[in-house]
Amino acid sequence: MRVVVLTGAGISAESGVPTFRDAGGLWEGHRVEDVATPEAFERDPDTVQRFYDARRHAVALAEPNPAHEALARLERELGDELLVVTQNIDPLHERAGSSRVLHLHGELALARCPACAGRSPVPGDLIERPPCPACGERMLRPDVVWFGEMPYGLDEIEAALAACEVFAAIGTSGAVHPAAGFVSTARARGARTVELNLASSEITGLFDEVRHGPASTVVPAWCAELLAGHGPS
Ligand code: APR
Repeated sequence: MRVVVLTGAGISAESGVPTFRDAGGLWEGHRVEDVATPEAFERDPDTVQRFYDARRHAVALAEPNPAHEALARLERELGDELLVVTQNIDPLHERAGSSRVLHLHGELALARCPACAGRSPVPGDLIERPPCPACGERMLRPDVVWFGEMPYGLDEIEAALAACEVFAAIGTSGAVHPAAGFVSTARARGARTVELNLASSEITGLFDEVRHGPASTVVPAWCAELLAGHGPS
């Protein structure tokens, strides 16, 4: 049974990682255009570097929650029939044991070099301007996809959506494309679709089934049902 799971900030909320658009979310404290666009990096790189260095420190203290662990268990059972596409830049899926994870919006743990386009593990706070390990340039940027930039892995995602029988979206507001459109692509191919979220999202109406509740509760229950063979909806 081929399954694609899309995750958003909501799956990491109970691990203490702030979401973007909930009360107290990241976009309450910062303007997207000041910290998450190429223009912001051009205009004021230090502010952008400090924003991501701070998020990297915060995420280092976070632990996966039962929702991440349930998806890792699901991968152990389904193997390469499961693909987790995450909008999150934290490593909590991997820390829970998932290996088939595609970071659509990049990863806090990686840096990208504007000079040679090399991607490498972040060697420390980027505000310190560490040299690129490949070319020595001292302007490494977070390997995070900013607004207006091309997300990673779209070809692989489209292929997985075209072949999937089940599509689940977990903890995402459906506010940002292309991720918000994945459910429509899956439906068009005849997949069963389910949304697992604390509340209704902007795309709730597009799903065959919606389950409301905290991810740490609803995700393990859904994964258990899927594995028991009497799959949901
Ligand atoms: N369990 C399940 N869902 C939750 C929980 C929880 N404990 N807490 C919050 N949520 C849900 C909210 O209801 C909301 O639908 O998580 C979602 C969070 O929405 P956003 O903050 O918009 O996060 P996300 O959907 O991942 O944002 C998408 O926008 O800013 C960009 O690049 C950024 O990847 C991000 C993208």
